[in-house]
Amino acid sequence: MTLTVIGAGYVGLVTAAVFSQLGNKVYCVDIDQKRVQDLKIGKIPFFEPSLADYVKRNIKAKRLFFTTSYKESVPKSKVVFICVGTPPKNNGEADLSYLFAAVEETAKNLTTYTLITIKSTIPIGFEDDLEEVARKHAKSKFEFASSPEFLREGTAIEDTLHPDRIVIGTDSKKAQKILLELHAPISGNRIITDIRSAQLIKYASNALLATKVSFANDIANLCEKMGADVEKVLEGVGQDKRIGRSFLYPGVGYGGSCLPKDVLAFISIGQFFDYDLTLLRAVDAINEKQILRFITKIRKALGADEEKRKNLEGKKLAVLGLAFKPNTDDIRESPSIKIIKHLLDLKAQITAYDPQAMENTKKILPDINYTKDAYGALNGKDALILITEWPQFRELDLDRIKKILKAPIIIDGRNMFDINRVRQLGFKYVGIGR
Ligand code: NAD
Ligand code: UGA
Repeated sequence: MTLTVIGAGYVGLVTAAVFSQLGNKVYCVDIDQKRVQDLKIGKIPFFEPSLADYVKRNIKAKRLFFTTSYKESVPKSKVVFICVGTPPKNNGEADLSYLFAAVEETAKNLTTYTLITIKSTIPIGFEDDLEEVARKHAKSKFEFASSPEFLREGTAIEDTLHPDRIVIGTDSKKAQKILLELHAPISGNRIITDIRSAQLIKYASNALLATKVSFANDIANLCEKMGADVEKVLEGVGQDKRIGRSFLYPGVGYGGSCLPKDVLAFISIGQFFDYDLTLLRAVDAINEKQILRFITKIRKALGADEEKRKNLEGKKLAVLGLAFKPNTDDIRESPSIKIIKHLLDLKAQITAYDPQAMENTKKILPDINYTKDAYGALNGKDALILITEWPQFRELDLDRIKKILKAPIIIDGRNMFDINRVRQLGFKYVGIGR
């Protein structure tokens, strides 16, 4: 099948790479000229494991093409996947300007029946407006479907090839048949439904993931007050097969380009339909507070006077981890960036290290120090602050860390280090909920 994928971001590029790998001819369209130029020579705009191999292999096999031109690609395609961003506006609602522009441009270039499939996460209720825009500009038949994306950054290729489910939202039998045929080589259960239910599945899924994280953080905070160990508590809770342990890991709160944005957008959608999603307002509030709690922990661990605003003045702190989670260089809504900004506000001096996310961070935090490796960041510092749980940080030599830190203090935002071992070695250790 010949396809067009609009948007060469995390979702679009991975979708294009996977469908071309499965034997389809795929055009990937982006308005960002530099991005398209780079992609044509196999240069990937972000770090995502194995994506570069897939892209290069399929460019070489002449199954994957990059362009800025809708005209070059849309007329040849049976399916157009819309994968542009839907970032948050200041009031929490989703900004749909990219989406409407992409649908309009697609419609203008239709020459034969085409199935326009929305993969971007879009608020329920806008599908009619999108169809109206398309109708206004299209000179040929088209249909709409929604097939929301559930991939995670860091495991995007694997998630796309082996998803838990593929959701196909459309009332058209023809559209269902096309999408079922296209997805035939991909594993996972099929859920066929109407467009609104498909979009609701996406928001409800992200909202429940965020709820689990905030629940874990709430229990962790209670454990601190009670003197219980959250890791044991949630291990015990997670052993119940009906509950499971996944997404019940406490930390510094959920970040990234999706959970924070989709929780807020979902609250707005509820309001639009005159329904108050009370639970999600609490989920968001817990998440916001989790960062402030972490800052308080850092101040206390360093013996700083909480009353004084600039009380970390003169403290040199090493921050390990800048990405919003491991295996990505994405720093959108990264808790680490928010924490560093708070610490800078308190006049601390920051030296940071991240295996992949330093280049992106330098663009927004040019004035902090960066080092080539984790040990370089720790040398002579007043404390180690662990924020992103990159697997390689687990392998760090604690004896060496103790020798090079000025003071043996570890503030561990992900409960990554073995609490007994670090305490045995004589570190002052502060984790989350333990
Ligand atoms: P992104 O910001 O990484 O990429 C979006 C791309 O679209 C950019 O390259 C941009 O230049 C391009 N673009 C914008 N307007 C365009 C237009 N009119 N025509 C062509 N290209 C255009 O976004 P993303 O992270 O891939 O997210 C896309 C959507 O998928 C969002 O709705 C998001 O919520 C959803 N989603 C994201 C993920 C994820 O892990 N990132 C997972 C599931 C769903
Ligand atoms: C999330 C969802 O997991 C994907 O299914 C979805 O497709 C995607 O959003 C999206 O809609 O864009 P992603 O943003 O890549 O994927 O990241 P997650 O793995 O969900 O992690 C989100 C945040 O929650 C991270 O900051 C992570 O550190 C945090 N988290 C996660 C915890 O603090 N504790 C946990 O137990 C799990």
